[in-house]
Amino acid sequence: MHPMVNIAVRAARSAGNVIVRNLDRLDRVRVESKGANDFVSDVDIMAEREIVSTLRRAYPDHAIIGEEGGGEANADYVWLIDPLDGTTNFLHGFPHFAVSIAVLHRGQLEAGVIYDPVRQELFTANRGGGATLEGRRIRMRERGSIDGALLGTGFPFRHPGHKPAYLGMFADAMEHAGDIRRAGSAALDLAYVACGRLDGYWELGLSRWDIAAGALMVQEAGGLVTDFTGETGYLDSGNVVAGSLKLHGSLLGTIRPHLTEALRR
Ligand code: IPD
Ligand code: CA
Ligand code: CA
Repeated sequence: MHPMVNIAVRAARSAGNVIVRNLDRLDRVRVESKGANDFVSDVDIMAEREIVSTLRRAYPDHAIIGEEGGGEANADYVWLIDPLDGTTNFLHGFPHFAVSIAVLHRGQLEAGVIYDPVRQELFTANRGGGATLEGRRIRMRERGSIDGALLGTGFPFRHPGHKPAYLGMFADAMEHAGDIRRAGSAALDLAYVACGRLDGYWELGLSRWDIAAGALMVQEAGGLVTDFTGETGYLDSGNVVAGSLKLHGSLLGTIRPHLTEALRR
């Protein structure tokens, strides 16, 4: 295994243990609001601490940016971590959330790990080395278009200004797709695209730690990830479209007519 994947797996598993241990004491989990529909619990913070201490021990010179702790990006290697992607699900005992850890080398995605601690499913990827689920190589499902496809998405519940544009995209996608899922963890949505459980996925207004590991996973499974303009700026814009080559084009074509000026950036 790629050494950085190895360390990230160790970090993700120990964060996953913290999360699962707290699933049956949800009534005692402390929660604070970070913004509109944006919550952080003491479990998010404990899980992030686990990850940061594992990464620091292995790579004291690397920079670490965590959702709950901030951090600096001034190093060749920068880790992006979401200790608990799907906090709203977790807080409701809805068993669909993940730990997401990625590392960039000089701005390029190098390795990524997504761990679902409920199903104990581990997804990994490293640049040029492919993507795996539970140690087995995964490939994207090939589909010519979104017609009849199973798509994943996320609702812009923290971005009310984008709601009209999003609802236009959603209506058009629903017109063609076989069905659409909103499962509540962007990291798992991307991992599911990589392993063929979903044919494609789009969402707007995400953060870098939501996307980084999953984007590499889709790419290493043979798929395409872009922003809404079809370019590679998704980590900066937070707007993501993912799928196999052809399906990606078809999904982007569905989204494009609804883009506002703000979403074209
Ligand atoms: C959220 C989840 C969700 C997506 C949100 C993300 P969080 O992450 O990935 O699926 O729709 O916008 O911010 O806050 O639970 O880590
Ligand atoms: Ca997240
Ligand atoms: Ca989170």
